[in-house]
Amino acid sequence: MKVKKNKKDKTGKMQVIHDKLISLKESPLYEYRTSNNYFPVIGEGSLDARIVFVGEAPGRNEAKTGKPFCGTAGKVLDKLLNHVGLSREKIYITNIVKDRPPENRDPTPKEIEVYGPLLDKQFEIIKPKVVVALGRYAMGYIMTKFGLGDALEPIGKAHGKIYKAKNLDVITLYHPCVAVYNPHNLPNLLKDFEVLKKYIK
Ligand code: URA
Repeated sequence: MKVKKNKKDKTGKMQVIHDKLISLKESPLYEYRTSNNYFPVIGEGSLDARIVFVGEAPGRNEAKTGKPFCGTAGKVLDKLLNHVGLSREKIYITNIVKDRPPENRDPTPKEIEVYGPLLDKQFEIIKPKVVVALGRYAMGYIMTKFGLGDALEPIGKAHGKIYKAKNLDVITLYHPCVAVYNPHNLPNLLKDFEVLKKYIK
């Protein structure tokens, strides 16, 4: 019965974060979300995942459905996950910013500051062993959060690397959208993803 209770606790705690997200009026993206009838995107997957993937922010498809990585970048992500034998059910996928920025522009420091604590709480609930940062914004936030700020370098250098934090490993990867803009990047992304193999049982 312990396992069941644990699951219920986690689901309940995640629901609390979801409720907070829905009424996050202090977010600079709240008005844009509500006036467009968009959904916030909290994340999806196993609350017992050993590996949590963190992207940048929802795009249009994600904001219309409330599901992370369900558009073109999501198709690339599925190819990458499949390449190393991972399925979405085994992992948890979320974003640093949980509402769509207008025209898919880069997230602002203020937006990262507003949504960051929600991501922190998700880590507390799931307690992953590995956090995968997809792209430079997730990388900056996650490395700083886990005490790796001094090791930060541009994503062009950091991609495919493993960093040891106190209780978990951080892996920094290019964002899947780099293969949407230029399909010639896909082989490099596939190769980088192989760093995950050693964590897959
Ligand atoms: N890009 C992201 O960073 N996250 C998504 O959910 C979709 C596209």
